[in-house]
Amino acid sequence: MKVERFTTVSCLEAKKKGEKISMLTAYDYSTAKLLDEAGIDSLLIGDSLGMVMLGYENTLPVMVEDIIYHSKAVARGAKRAMIVGDMPFLSYHINIEESVRNAGRLIQEGNAHAVKLEGGEEVLDKVKAIVKAQIPVMGHLGLTPQSVNMMGGFKVQGKKEEQARKLIKDALLLQEAGAFAIVLECVPEQLSKIITEKLDIPTIGIGAGRYCDGQVMVTQDMLGMISDFKPKFVKQYAQVGNITKEACRQYIGEIKDMNFPAKEHTFSIDEEILAKLY
Ligand code: KIV
Repeated sequence: MKVERFTTVSCLEAKKKGEKISMLTAYDYSTAKLLDEAGIDSLLIGDSLGMVMLGYENTLPVMVEDIIYHSKAVARGAKRAMIVGDMPFLSYHINIEESVRNAGRLIQEGNAHAVKLEGGEEVLDKVKAIVKAQIPVMGHLGLTPQSVNMMGGFKVQGKKEEQARKLIKDALLLQEAGAFAIVLECVPEQLSKIITEKLDIPTIGIGAGRYCDGQVMVTQDMLGMISDFKPKFVKQYAQVGNITKEACRQYIGEIKDMNFPAKEHTFSIDEEILAKLY
């Protein structure tokens, strides 16, 4: 049965109706299929895949090809969710032409419906050009992980008046430039409330409190699959990490004890043929 896709227009309608938007990251086919079947509105092929899937220390080494590769798989698994491909570090920083080309590749090759990029005033010319090329853009303000070296680490943003004013200004500028939604990451919730109220387009929060128009989380964080680091804003809805390890221990044990495979897991051959083989 054909299901109706959640789109950038659905995003704007949701904000108007006061309906919250749900978003999670996904990097592979089977996870995307599960999350889509559960009814998630949008799936983000975040550059967090650099850390979560590839084991890098931060998102900086992620390439456009990495996002395309994972986005293709996610797109095959998601029938309803809007697919957003993250534009990795340096893919929209050099010049406008490269930015539009890279955004276009995420749509054409990665089968994404929209792209996300980090930054405010400094990336406006790129946002405008990408939107002009008919590619929907999701902004990303606050803690922008691609600027980790400039920010001196992964820190809450917008606590100081000047920073807070810049975030409000950047959000309005992104809206004016044509962004259809903005991710607010690690921002005090009173500030994200002000930004959300000032904008006609939805805000999607991660560590930005209760007043955003939607929420996004890294799926592996939400499922409790990463045990060595749990940011304050993460809520674990399951302990998939522990369940996976326990299942694996049982599997190993049953192999060693010769309890797996059992008869019901095996195939057999006709006795007459078998007799000829001895
Ligand atoms: O890369 C990512 O997963 C993100 C989300 C944290 C918003 O940008």
